[in-house]
Amino acid sequence: INEAKPQKHGPLHRYLGPPAPPACTKAIRRSIEWGAATAAYQIEGGWDEGGKSNSVWDVWSQTPGKVAQNQTGNTACDHYHRWREDVQLMQQLGLKHYRLSFSWPRIVPGGVAGSPANPEGLHFYKQLLSSLRAAGIAPLVTLFHWDLPQVLQDDHGGLLGEQFPEHFAYYADVVFRELGRFVSHWVTLNEPLVTCSMGYQSGVFPSGLQLGTQAFLQCGHNQLKAHAKAVQLYRQRYSRRQKGHLSLAVPGWWMIPYDASSKANRAAAARAMEFRWGWMFDPVITGDYPTAMRAHFDSQLPAFSAEGQQLLKGSVDFLGVNIYTARYVADGSENGMPWVESLTNASGAALCPDSDELCLAVAQDGVNVQGFYAWSLMDNFEWADGYRPRFGLVYVDYENGLRRLPKRSAAWMARHFFLKRQLG
Ligand code: NOJ
Repeated sequence: INEAKPQKHGPLHRYLGPPAPPACTKAIRRSIEWGAATAAYQIEGGWDEGGKSNSVWDVWSQTPGKVAQNQTGNTACDHYHRWREDVQLMQQLGLKHYRLSFSWPRIVPGGVAGSPANPEGLHFYKQLLSSLRAAGIAPLVTLFHWDLPQVLQDDHGGLLGEQFPEHFAYYADVVFRELGRFVSHWVTLNEPLVTCSMGYQSGVFPSGLQLGTQAFLQCGHNQLKAHAKAVQLYRQRYSRRQKGHLSLAVPGWWMIPYDASSKANRAAAARAMEFRWGWMFDPVITGDYPTAMRAHFDSQLPAFSAEGQQLLKGSVDFLGVNIYTARYVADGSENGMPWVESLTNASGAALCPDSDELCLAVAQDGVNVQGFYAWSLMDNFEWADGYRPRFGLVYVDYENGLRRLPKRSAAWMARHFFLKRQLG
């Protein structure tokens, strides 16, 4: 991460770099769909253009004191205007798979169910998706990557609003109907854990409220219901024609005992896995929360109706996990959760083609890994941290007209994983 600005940006194809990790045999590399990822608010800019309304991140970043150095996503990487160039860039890297997100307030500026879709917003994404198709790049689309329409926050309770699932399903319906023919893989929600903990517990992301554990759980509950509704709708109305696959993405913090010889630490780590991963994955697979969570939180944890359980059960076609780091876990209690955790030394790797681990999982454990998307295609707006972290395969020169300069990591990924022999 934070790889330095490339000094020369011509003959990248001469950069050989380290070989592919040993576990990543050619056969395994060929069997996985390798790509790179972005999200709308982090790269698009064009915050007040084309009929878009404010998202909570527009308002948040424009409020002094909320983001490092008061930076905003107003322009970001200006992808809204430079998408053609960016598709060319992807082609140059040999990218065949690209994860992006749509901006809800660009597509349904009114936010709520029943409000009109924005033709200009749809047009933007239609052009982008057509051009990706023409370039032979398959999109995986996230419907909601944190940029909630501000109007939902102001007037409808945000992620805690009772009608949130209806509003989300309406937006999803517009997207499936208008843009679904271009897309075969969907992620409904990105990391509900983060929008709920940062947004409603610590308050360092919008909504900025610090409401405690119950609100955190309610926020996740509403997002799970929203996910289930959108998937049901897709399966009823669109899957026969569009044949897409859907999931949601959770933060893949791997919880390891701080002291593996301690039984209490081992139990705490197992509990943390169950509460972090199982919170979302158990409901979408089995229809309900993990038993241990229900026992621990008791009435604080909202319950699904029988109908809600049916809807949730089996509502994913694959599992989306955003893997960056592991955390040490010990017995105890913190932020309403029955364990305490701290970062491991291995933390901070956002680009992280932890591909050796990934390939070992395939080779040794027989895990069915279908795709891997490096975060991120290009340096971008890293939420409350602003532009300082540079997670991109491609350097964005914010000082000099937002020039895109592929880093050595891009050349390395291209050579070994995107299977592109010669760059550019
Ligand atoms: C995962 C989030 O989905 C993404 O938006 C963020 O930029 C990266 N983590 C890096 O923190």
